[in-house]
Amino acid sequence: MSQAFDVLVIGGGPGGYIAAIRAAQLGFKVACAESHSYDDPKGEPRLGGTCLNVGCIPSKALLASSEEFEKIAHHAADHGIKVGSVSIDSKKMVARKDDIVTKMTGGIQYLFRKNKITLLKGHASFEGKGADGYQVKIDGKDKSTVSAKNVIIATGSKARHLPGLPVDNVLVCDNEGALKFDSVPKKLGVIGAGVIGLELGSVWRRLGSEVTVLEALPSFLAACDVSIAKEAQKLFVKQGLNINMGVKIGEVKADKKGVVVNYTDSAGKAAKLECDRLIVSVGRVPNTDKLGLDKIGLKVDERGFIPIDDHTCATAAPGVYAVGDVVRGPMLAHKAEDEGVLAAEVIAGQKPHIDYNCIPWVIYTDPEIAWVGKTEQALKEAGIAYKAGQFPFGANGRALGMGRADGFVKILADAKTDEILGVHIIGPNASDLIAEAAVAMEFKAAAEDIARICHPHPSLSEVMREAALATDQRALNM
Ligand code: NAI
Repeated sequence: MSQAFDVLVIGGGPGGYIAAIRAAQLGFKVACAESHSYDDPKGEPRLGGTCLNVGCIPSKALLASSEEFEKIAHHAADHGIKVGSVSIDSKKMVARKDDIVTKMTGGIQYLFRKNKITLLKGHASFEGKGADGYQVKIDGKDKSTVSAKNVIIATGSKARHLPGLPVDNVLVCDNEGALKFDSVPKKLGVIGAGVIGLELGSVWRRLGSEVTVLEALPSFLAACDVSIAKEAQKLFVKQGLNINMGVKIGEVKADKKGVVVNYTDSAGKAAKLECDRLIVSVGRVPNTDKLGLDKIGLKVDERGFIPIDDHTCATAAPGVYAVGDVVRGPMLAHKAEDEGVLAAEVIAGQKPHIDYNCIPWVIYTDPEIAWVGKTEQALKEAGIAYKAGQFPFGANGRALGMGRADGFVKILADAKTDEILGVHIIGPNASDLIAEAAVAMEFKAAAEDIARICHPHPSLSEVMREAALATDQRALNM
């Protein structure tokens, strides 16, 4: 007899594994199907999805290693610390990253056991609907057909590749190959000045690569607040990243000697980039093919996303939900997690809610960039009257002590009500500092609230408070 579940989650990434845990907490009989083995030595499916295996976690491990290297090699002397010659063992650095990934993905297996979640090892696809619910075929190490009353689709996304530019993940790499270079490329090319291009470009630049970024759009980091984008571009160029905006990529040739990218620059002139390796980071596409969606009457939109309603992640098929990168909204692990929790709670009859305006964004460059809410350009476009307060890390004692004084916090608040509409940070630990802003915005706080709350001294968080004071022209330390 086929196994029957209350909830089947397809995909074990941040959206899926969190949905499975929450559904189990709510008392459901839960299974989670996962087929991707990534680099598992035994070819066993690995939980954690892109985020844990080839995304957020490994890239942050490499970012940390490269930051340590840069600190020791270039900034130790600022602290009066004398070091001899510094070199990097990239194989060891990559092995450390792999260990962290193994620990994290193994941790989810433990969580599955703890929550009595059945792991189905294989690719899941719908076969239809019967009396017991949806029939789903599992094809992989496990081979069976299971039934489930409710299904949460959390199959994530894959790197978009450019037509005519095959990715071999040795010379021409997407996010997967770029995380396992066994040596530091002398010259590294990056197509796409987005999140991945800037994060991974920064890793290899710090370790000594000459990095050139080619971006199609005319404006840098168009999704960020304009003043943050401007500051970021200035700082990254100062750090040594070669950033070329408004380019049109032409023919790319890769052979044993390296990669040659022909492109047209922003002035329309033909140009050529020769590099040892190339990272292609031009966005991601949802994994919605081969799911048998047609068997349950579901269709994807023109970009491959699964349509859902605005509030419950429900698809047009009753009892089938979709979360994370396969649906509208930012492709962020924490957004996927929140939608996973939401879908499980909706199945349980609860009334959860996500305020998408309060989802924080982070780019892990150095300095980090983080924001939540509206940008200044979006407020202008919407005709909303606002006031802005900005405060630099350069006037903060803690940041100076850390030798990390670049950047600032900018707070945008409603001109009349003082409600915080957006918070934008470029600076040290922005990824942690932004959490205060997300909490404040969820509680519909005013800039005055942050300005009145006691912040620890000396700490980077004081910059947030000073920016809030600055919206009312009363910053104290400027
Ligand atoms: P992205 O959407 O951030 O950036 C892609 C860039 O490539 C854009 O600036 C785009 O204009 C450019 N581009 C597109 N086609 C091009 C072409 N033909 N020639 C030159 N440039 C071109 O995508 P990315 O960096 O690949 O990241 C994918 C997703 O992964 C993002 O949606 C992001 O949300 C997520 N991610 C999030 C991270 C974080 O939260 N820190 C880290 C890494 C990825």
